[in-house]
Amino acid sequence: MSATSAEDDSAAGDPVARAGELRALIVHHNERYHTLDDPEITDAEYDALVRALRDLEAEHPDLAVPDSPTSQVGAAPSTLFAPVVHHVRMMSLDNAFSPEELQAWADRVGKQVPPDTAFECELKIDGLAISLLYRDGRFVQAATRGDGTTGEDVTANIATVGAIPKELDPAAGPLPEVLEVRGEVYMPIAAFDDLNRRQAEAGDRLFVNPRNSAAGSLRQKDPGVTATRALSFWAYQVGEVRPEPSVAGGQLPDLATSQSTTLAWLGRAGFPVNPEVHLVEGLNGVLEFCARWEEHRHDLDYEIDGVVVKVDDLDLQRELGSTSRAPRWAIAYKFPPEERSTTLRHIAVSIGRTGKATPFAVLEPVFVGGSTVGLATLHNEDQVRLKDVRPGDTVIVRKAGDVIPEVVGPLRVKGRRRKPAWKFPTTCPVCAAPLVRLEGESDTFCTNLDCPGQRVQRIAHFASRSAMDIEGLGEQRVQLLVDNGLLVDVADLYGFTPETFAGLEGFAELSTANLLAAIDDSRQRPLSRVLIGLGIRHLGQVGSTALARACRDLDVILTADESTLAEIDGVGPVIASSVMAWFDSPVNRSVVDRLRAAGLQFTEPGVDTGGADPDLEQTLGGRSVVVTGTLDGYTRDEAEAAVAARGGKSPGTVSKKTYAVVVGRAPGASKVSKAEQLGVPIVDGASFEEFLATGELPEERSSAN
Ligand code: IVH
Repeated sequence: MSATSAEDDSAAGDPVARAGELRALIVHHNERYHTLDDPEITDAEYDALVRALRDLEAEHPDLAVPDSPTSQVGAAPSTLFAPVVHHVRMMSLDNAFSPEELQAWADRVGKQVPPDTAFECELKIDGLAISLLYRDGRFVQAATRGDGTTGEDVTANIATVGAIPKELDPAAGPLPEVLEVRGEVYMPIAAFDDLNRRQAEAGDRLFVNPRNSAAGSLRQKDPGVTATRALSFWAYQVGEVRPEPSVAGGQLPDLATSQSTTLAWLGRAGFPVNPEVHLVEGLNGVLEFCARWEEHRHDLDYEIDGVVVKVDDLDLQRELGSTSRAPRWAIAYKFPPEERSTTLRHIAVSIGRTGKATPFAVLEPVFVGGSTVGLATLHNEDQVRLKDVRPGDTVIVRKAGDVIPEVVGPLRVKGRRRKPAWKFPTTCPVCAAPLVRLEGESDTFCTNLDCPGQRVQRIAHFASRSAMDIEGLGEQRVQLLVDNGLLVDVADLYGFTPETFAGLEGFAELSTANLLAAIDDSRQRPLSRVLIGLGIRHLGQVGSTALARACRDLDVILTADESTLAEIDGVGPVIASSVMAWFDSPVNRSVVDRLRAAGLQFTEPGVDTGGADPDLEQTLGGRSVVVTGTLDGYTRDEAEAAVAARGGKSPGTVSKKTYAVVVGRAPGASKVSKAEQLGVPIVDGASFEEFLATGELPEERSSAN
């Protein structure tokens, strides 16, 4: 079965056939998701199938059948666990995928409720629904939702979840004989990361996301395994209660009044209740809550996939009633998906300037998390093996709050033959020299210093923003010039003339003139930037700046002995020895001589300190750093002052000249997208201090070779 069948219109002409096909697909995917914990499609694709069927049934009412999956909940329970019948049905929720659909729901509800109706807004936790049964305040049974009528008995597994109370707090008042509490079992993100770290250490397959690992961890035959999985729980509803709660002087009035009083009571009884619930009046408040959490969803340490909006008053809920599968008094507002599936066309390896060979996924381009993704890093050989992604697989691609897209793992389609596991190449894809992986290390290297792949990366690094900042000389152009024999080392750049580019594609008159001007301009860069550009091992931005500021002139470095260099603050023996070795090489020396002859400065001027702090390394000397969003421990003014103390400036807008954009929590969307558009590097807010200290940009991924 294909993941994209929602868009497949093979049966489009015949609504009966199309409805039959969609139902079969949905039933199949229900089983994969709910019973087997091994989905073949992403949640967003599943939602699209359901929506297609619902639309079709609405258009052709004669097609509706009583057992259509649009009127059912979940999937039949598996035979792995004993069945548990729910005395009060466990419903699902209808979805709204846009503010307009939310408005349409509010309009429908609005016909039956007063205009000032209160809505309880809750986060939609991405876990799995669970029903917990208490008798006289003691936990006695837990069951999954199953098909809403019958679930699976997972009591022993739930007993291992510390967040779930086993005895209720009598402070909540007299406890009912029977109390069924419902909520979401989930895996916190830190626990998920930790679990995958352990899986990797043991060489076991990685889990694709926290929801899947929560479901897989709970539905274990051996509760001992569940106990190791750090699951957690939020309560959001009561089911069966005996004797029945009642207001007006009766029992447990809180449970008979409203959703908000119910949650407050659950909290007093000892259940974890999500603190982010918010009672609002009217739809505007609902829309605000949805917008806020759509933006801030990654501030939480658990995953949410939307907001659940509930009419607060329980009498009104009863009046509104339910369809066969979902209440009319609630709706789930779903956020746009951050995970999509696509085909992994093949896995390629790129060669960095140090010779590091990095595998990356070449994907059927897919729009996810706000942009189109065609390439995604796979980090190293072990990651490919642990994720078990193979060429031809349908894979999940995730692009969440942070901006680097990743391949999460394969979607396994039963019965589909897969290609054999991918093997890391033994030779460099660029120069065919052997690739070497040293024992105990995760990275693999091309050992040929003359490898054209490395050469391209070395020259592109020299021209990059953090070094000589030659605009218009990106990796692709460097590649083209190297391929055409016009560029062998960085000194060749300064011998370019308009004639160099004659007949080359992509070098029109104007862009050639601009490039030559940019190369000419780079002759003025201070020594520190030249040193960065040379790509000397161990000598990063901090070391280069320290060395340049201490020596002021390249000749001082060239005539100094190693111990003198090693004594410089921020240099030390390792860098000193690497610098000496680099300049000792006759090949490198001749490049330096040619650069000097080309008019490069090789001197470091004194720094004009605006808000600069003379005691701090000027890691951002003269550079523009735009800060957006909230950074831990800094107000906006403090963050900008910290940039200034390092010699940088903080303009309010992103331009081509911006060195980097630091992205904190709740960043300005336009700044981030502008940065992406212009290719300005993005620094994660969590790395702000490291960035200040080093001035180094996150490593840029290179494209296919
Ligand atoms: S209320 C009858 N509240 O979303 C209403 N559900 O797509 C029952 N969920 O089965 C659900 N967070 O597993 C409710 N705050 C929340 C929720 C929530 C997550 C899940 C739940 C439900 C599914 C429906």
